[in-house]
Amino acid sequence: MIDALLIFPPSSVVMLAAGKGSRMNHDVPKQFIKLLGRPVLFHSLKPFLSVLPRASYVVVVPPGEVDSCSGMLRDWFPGVSFLVTEGGETRFHSVRNGLRLLKPEGIILVHDAARCLLTSELVERVVKCAAEKGTAVPTITCSDSVRLLSEGRSLPIDRDQVRLVQTPQGFNAEILLNAFKAEYRPAFTDEASVVEHSGIDVSLVEGEDSNIKITRPDDLERAESILNNRAD
Ligand code: CTP
Ligand code: MG
Repeated sequence: MIDALLIFPPSSVVMLAAGKGSRMNHDVPKQFIKLLGRPVLFHSLKPFLSVLPRASYVVVVPPGEVDSCSGMLRDWFPGVSFLVTEGGETRFHSVRNGLRLLKPEGIILVHDAARCLLTSELVERVVKCAAEKGTAVPTITCSDSVRLLSEGRSLPIDRDQVRLVQTPQGFNAEILLNAFKAEYRPAFTDEASVVEHSGIDVSLVEGEDSNIKITRPDDLERAESILNNRAD
């Protein structure tokens, strides 16, 4: 509960749960699939609520699901208030819909509901860095060899120069809201790319190897085993 212990600016969390999960090929979008009896979205929210119990929470959900998701959130987390809104065509549009509900104050964290294995330590690191430096983007090193495709060939690149980008990404609210005035571009795959386009460099913080994005069916088994080990 760092915001209770230290003087941090007010914070807000935008939880992105509006995707279709097409690569998962499941009968419900992956953020609603259960792991250890609880939906992925529930696991994703838990670490934020434990670190930032007084933050404003915006949950972005699939079109037509605002009422059903509001009811689920009330059942899972009684007494916590959530703003729930519909997502858009791409992740960028979903973030923008969520940001419309927030005031330009304090810091804003944006997280993929599909990354349900993050820990409260990661949330704390991102909040601290965003509060100190204005931006915080968690990344991890790459242990595989990496090649770059170019003009029908492929070239090896130095993996020590590569970082894999995760969420939650945290920003001073004015920086993020200003950056999201931009027109959509396909290169906007995360908040860091949008903020950089507005002319601001981002600060990296250490991510977590276990903070995988649930994407394909195999990831469910892996995620459940990680959660199981933590429960022990
Ligand atoms: N997301 C969203 N709105 C969209 C697209 C994605 O809120 N229009 C969210 C997803 O719910 C997910 C996160 O952004 O939590 C990361 O996206 P991704 O892993 O690509 O999820 P999906 O788009 O749902 O999956 P897929 O690409 O396989 O369809
Ligand atoms: Mg997607």
